Amino acid sequence: MKKIAVLTSGGDAPGMNAAIRAVVRNGIYNNLEVVGIKKGYDGLINANMEEMNLSSVADIIHRGGTILRTARSEEFRTEEGRKKALNVMKVLGIDGIIVIGGDGSFRGAKELNTMGIPAIGVPGTIDNDLGYTDYTIGFDTSINTVIDAISKIRDTSTSHGRANIIEVMGRDCGDIALHAGLAGGAESIIVPEAEINVDQVCNKLLKGRNRGKLHSIIILAEGAGNAIDMSNQIKERTGIETRATILGYIQRGGSPTAFDRILASKMGAKAVNLLINGAKNRVVGAKGKNIIDMDIDEALNIKNDFDMESYELAKILSI
Ligand code: F6P
Repeated sequence: MKKIAVLTSGGDAPGMNAAIRAVVRNGIYNNLEVVGIKKGYDGLINANMEEMNLSSVADIIHRGGTILRTARSEEFRTEEGRKKALNVMKVLGIDGIIVIGGDGSFRGAKELNTMGIPAIGVPGTIDNDLGYTDYTIGFDTSINTVIDAISKIRDTSTSHGRANIIEVMGRDCGDIALHAGLAGGAESIIVPEAEINVDQVCNKLLKGRNRGKLHSIIILAEGAGNAIDMSNQIKERTGIETRATILGYIQRGGSPTAFDRILASKMGAKAVNLLINGAKNRVVGAKGKNIIDMDIDEALNIKNDFDMESYELAKILSI
């Protein structure tokens, strides 16, 4: 292994830069040449890349987004696109690649392995929807952004005596909603993993009003519905003025938390060590205090285990 490449793919996540920094610095420390691919798999197909040195990753550990930019590549999904990418890697003498992204990006890494290029995946997504790892890079920053928004919305909600539905990201996964809802003291949390009961949400709201509660915060995971529809339904059923806030991209940006920076640093460095030791078709993850690695196919087959116990606890604590 003489020359390795790194790319970020799919939705960006805070901490991706810290992971890139770890790959580049640990690569150079181990006498490897490191190439940064721009705009995900599209950059691989079009040879859009640059040689990285120690300074290329200076001053980025605290920055959101990804200095390598990202994309959801349609062309790489085609055999022709993948062949082009393989050719670029062969011509440029790239011996291995580290892919930072979510499950779609890992599927791309799997294809590269099949074509004979050792590829290692690093989980970078705010969604925390990968079952094989306790945490993905970006999730912690994202939930901290959401709880900050909850606090602000709660101030206004209290002043006006309104209910608020806050829609958060996560695709089909309710982890952002659950964790931010529990940490933010939300009255109700609606996630795709649990049955939606609008009557229950409304009853809780009315119960709160009856005992003088001025604010009501309902966290809705995007995979479980739409905030505007839900706020209309609640207003109709309870008569309480209800507003909808869709947090959107503020959840994907911003300076990463210490947790995400440390996770990204450890995972990025581990991915380089794996390539040096001859591993292929692996992903890195976090289990308890350990940074682990696992076969990509095995990892992708592990269903994300929703934390029902914490979901029930959030219900109890918000009676
Ligand atoms: O995977 C990260 C994520 O932000 C999801 O939570 C969301 O559903 C999706 O990406 C949005 O993707 P895009 O930015 O491509 O619209």
